[in-house]
Amino acid sequence: MSRIAYVNGRYLPHREAAVHIEDRGYQFADGVYEVCEVANGQLIDMTRHMDRLGRSLSELQIKWPVQRKALERILLETVARNRVINGLVYLQVTRGVARRDHVFPPDGTPSALVVTAKRTDPALAEQKFEDGVGVITVPENRWDRVDIKSVGLLPNCIARQKAKENGAAEAWFVDEQGIVKEGGATNAWIVTSDGTLVTRPAEHGILRGITRTTVIDAANRIGIKVEERGFSVTEAQQARESFITAATTLVMPVVKIDGQPVANGHPGSVVSKIREAFIEQAEKTPIYEKVFL
Ligand code: PDD
Repeated sequence: MSRIAYVNGRYLPHREAAVHIEDRGYQFADGVYEVCEVANGQLIDMTRHMDRLGRSLSELQIKWPVQRKALERILLETVARNRVINGLVYLQVTRGVARRDHVFPPDGTPSALVVTAKRTDPALAEQKFEDGVGVITVPENRWDRVDIKSVGLLPNCIARQKAKENGAAEAWFVDEQGIVKEGGATNAWIVTSDGTLVTRPAEHGILRGITRTTVIDAANRIGIKVEERGFSVTEAQQARESFITAATTLVMPVVKIDGQPVANGHPGSVVSKIREAFIEQAEKTPIYEKVFL
């Protein structure tokens, strides 16, 4: 089956889908995005993703490309048209198309919207979860506003490439004090010896991950303590467990940090509990009922 992409009002075969060469996302990375998980034909945590999109847009003074309700519908419909049962849906909004000029284009320039969806293999994800992943650490070199989910991801790409070259799945950005910020595309966590979850506060310097927020809710529900504070690379290497969270990986055990095994080098029990609790906790929007009925 061929893939379908949504581009500025039209559903097109993926191969033919294209944006203008003077789209400001292309020229200036002047845009924002969201990635949502699709699991068992349901969109996960759509409300929170839309809320965060609204915040990113407003921080950058980019207009909604369509009304929020219409965008939700486009997300669901793009997933449905691609027959995705398990996978990801990607949406990108840029400041639109205008003759190249650093200052914002004239009022009335419509923002541009692209939505794509792809399938992922749940069996592969399960295997990864059972094995856990390795991370490396890299110095923070991003701008100050990483709380905005901007498409300007070059430092993240370089960090992740370095991780790959070192046999790891993720790179953690570390600040000047040696405190872990977050991964190139995930939030970072440890589990202390008494079973408390620790993750950096999201007020400043990291992206407030949707998976992170829902994990905090899930932990509170099942009585696991959460502490929002920084932790050093050494503390993480000596932790009882460690994990990363994102819409793409959900809750994924980290078993190696800069080549050092975490505990016995195998995923622990707390991360399993948290993953299950997350799945129960997350908001689930049934895609196919909403689109076809
Ligand atoms: N990345 N931190 C960064 C820098 C991220 O890019 C992401 C998500 C997260 C986790 O956020 P969430 O739980 O809302 O997915 C944290 C997406 C998945 C990506 O760029 O593909």
